[in-house]
Amino acid sequence: MELKICLIGKGTVGTSFLELLKRKKEIIKERYNCECKLLAIFERDGALINEDGLILDELLNDSIDFRENKFWKKNLKAKDLISKLNLDVCIDATPTNPNTGEPALTHIIEALNNKIDVISSNKAPFFLEYKRIKELANDNKCFIRYEATVASCIPALSIKENLIGNKITQIKAILNGTSNYILSRMTSENIPFEIALKEAQELGYAEANPNLDVGGFDAAGKLVILANELLGWTKTIKDAKIEGITKITPNAIKLAKLDGYVVKHLAIAENDNLIVEPRMIKKGSPLNISGTLNIIELQTQYAGPVILIGKGAGGFEAGSAILNDLIYIIKERKKIGSN
Ligand code: HSE
Repeated sequence: MELKICLIGKGTVGTSFLELLKRKKEIIKERYNCECKLLAIFERDGALINEDGLILDELLNDSIDFRENKFWKKNLKAKDLISKLNLDVCIDATPTNPNTGEPALTHIIEALNNKIDVISSNKAPFFLEYKRIKELANDNKCFIRYEATVASCIPALSIKENLIGNKITQIKAILNGTSNYILSRMTSENIPFEIALKEAQELGYAEANPNLDVGGFDAAGKLVILANELLGWTKTIKDAKIEGITKITPNAIKLAKLDGYVVKHLAIAENDNLIVEPRMIKKGSPLNISGTLNIIELQTQYAGPVILIGKGAGGFEAGSAILNDLIYIIKERKKIGSN
C-alpha cells in the first residue's frame, strides 16, 4: 500500500512530525507494508511539491533553508491544491486561530469534500465546528483524527477506544500547562503572577497571546473537544463558562494553603455543563499536579476514576500524536482493503 500525504504548516509541531516520520518510515513499511509518500509541504508563503515524493533528509537539514529546495514554489496555497494532488491524507499543523479556526477549517473541509482523510493538531476547528466536521467526515466516509489537539501525546481522545465497555460520565482536568505552571510557582515559591507568567513564556509553553492561556480559553477549547469526544456532546466553546486565573492573588493562595488546599485551574465537564475556572482542591488530591503537566481524570460508571497525566505540549509530543493518528489510519485502511 502507498499512502500519499501532505503536511500543512512546517512549524515546531510539523517539523517534529516530519522528523519522527523519517525515523519510523522503514518500520511502518516493514510492519504495515505501507509506503508513506510525502507529496507536499505547505507554508504560509508557498509550498514544496513533488508528486514522486519529497526526500525527508533534505527537508530536515537545519543548515539548508527548505525554501532553497528545488521543489519550492512561492505563493502556492494549500486550499487551492488539496483537491488537485491525489492525496490520501492531509495533515494540518497550522497555528490556532481561536476566533475563526482558519486556515485549518478550510483545509479540513476541502480535504473531506475530496474524500481525503484528515489529521489535525490545530484545535480551533474542533471547538468551533465539531458537529459540522464530524458529519462531513461521516458523509464522505473519511477518517478524521485529532489526538494532538488535546494534551498532545496523552491519549486523551483515543482512551475512549480502550474504555468502550465502560461509560465515561464526567471529566475533570488541568489542560493548560502555562496556567498550571503559574499557579504552581505562586503556591510553592510565593512568586507574583507576572514573574511566573514570564517564566512560563520562557519555557515556550505559552500561546503567542498568553491571554488565551491565563484567560482560560485554551483549556476551554480542549475541554469542548474532550467532552464532545468522550461524553458524546456536540458543544462549542460558546457553551463553556470560562474564568481565567488573572484574579488569583498571592493572598488567596496563602489562605487556601493554611487550610490544606491549593488553587488549581480546572476544566470540568459534568451534567451538561462545561466549566473552566480556578477551584480549591485538597492538597492530597490526584489533581494537584505541578509545573507544566496536564492531567485528565475521567469518572467512569463501572470502574471509578481513570487518570491520565503527562506533558500537554511540545513539538515531539504533538508530533508523535500525529504519527499515532497516521498509523491508526494506515491500520484501518488495511482492514478495509482486506475485507
Ligand atoms: N499554551 C498551551 C499550554 C500549549 O500552555 O498548555 C498547548 O496547547
